[in-house]
Amino acid sequence: MPHAIRVHAHGGPEVLQWEAVAASEPGPGEVLIRQTAIGLNFIDVYERTGLYPGALPIGLGREAAGVVEALGPRVRGLKPGDRVAYVSSQPGAYAQERVVAADRVVKVPDGVSDRLAAAALLKGLTAWFLVRRTHRVARGDAVVVHAAAGGVGLILAQWANHLGARVIGVVGSESKAEVARTHGCQHVLLLGRDDLPARVRELSGGEGARVVYDSVGKDTFVASLDCLRPLGLMVSYGNASGPVPPIAPLDLARRGSLFLTRPTLFHYTARRADLERAARELFGVIGSGAVRIEIGQCYALQDVAQAHRDLEARRTIGSTVLIP
Ligand SMILES: NC(=O)c1ccc[n+]([C@@H]2O[C@H](COP(=O)([O-])OP(=O)(O)OC[C@H]3O[C@@H](n4cnc5c(N)ncnc54)[C@H](OP(=O)(O)O)[C@@H]3O)[C@@H](O)[C@H]2O)c1
Repeated sequence: MPHAIRVHAHGGPEVLQWEAVAASEPGPGEVLIRQTAIGLNFIDVYERTGLYPGALPIGLGREAAGVVEALGPRVRGLKPGDRVAYVSSQPGAYAQERVVAADRVVKVPDGVSDRLAAAALLKGLTAWFLVRRTHRVARGDAVVVHAAAGGVGLILAQWANHLGARVIGVVGSESKAEVARTHGCQHVLLLGRDDLPARVRELSGGEGARVVYDSVGKDTFVASLDCLRPLGLMVSYGNASGPVPPIAPLDLARRGSLFLTRPTLFHYTARRADLERAARELFGVIGSGAVRIEIGQCYALQDVAQAHRDLEARRTIGSTVLIP
């Protein structure tokens, strides 16, 4: 019988339970995937704790790679045996097999392993919308990337650098600073040690940043606003340190008519054509070597509680992959 991780009550990593689950049949427009590698993402923590609430019991996990086992009716463009990966708007990827909507599935190119695909897809599509859609990063842009040695951060910094930006990374430790420096960051600042607004201003010729990509949330939000030049763009796309409290529009005016957005991947890839374009561009920058995907750590899916502890304690670097 296939197994999966289930959550019956929101809470700490101890609520993650390894259970036998009934095998499922793909319905119309769906495929059954035998999963070989699962991506760990911070959103899994928010769903485990209930910061993003869901009706219990729930599965967790938004992305995986594997092999198509069976097709439901009216699925085109896929066949049993295809190597695929997906990002789902519904949790449930922490499983040995899973039924997903075929229109959320992309084929994995030759030369990209299942583990690499699981490490790259959700985080890489996020980096894609951040540098190509939310703001089209252009040559010479001064760009701040928080958690620059993290899963999304490492990809985002390299992609922005590839597009010609001056990338200023922010990390939590010296060892992470070294990783960020070799993955797209021209400058790296230490959270808790450096005065972020003052240093960003210095590093951007006195102007301030064109855009700040902030995934840390509560602890960095105000400093991030203060890093921006007038008419700069604040992209608050995560809450690793906790959700950002409400702010007054006048706080944006006072700092120089700033723009503020709080985007999520699922809106940017809701249309199949956007998902295909994003995946094509992502696999393109991986294939050309412009973006290297770093799998900092792997865990057996059954040990996912430890993976969550490490992610929340800021002990992980780059992407984390779970093996079912
Ligand atoms: N909006 C979207 O569509 C979208 C999509 C994907 C991911 N995200 C967000 O992007 C962020 C990164 O996701 P990820 O999976 O790649 O995780 P990650 O960046 O690998 O891990 C989180 C990192 O945040 C930093 N951090 C700072 N303060 C923290 C705190 N109090 N607790 C925990 N971490 C803290 C740590 O780096 P340092 O030690 O270097 O400070 C930590 O390693 C998350 O906030 C996630 O929600 C958003």
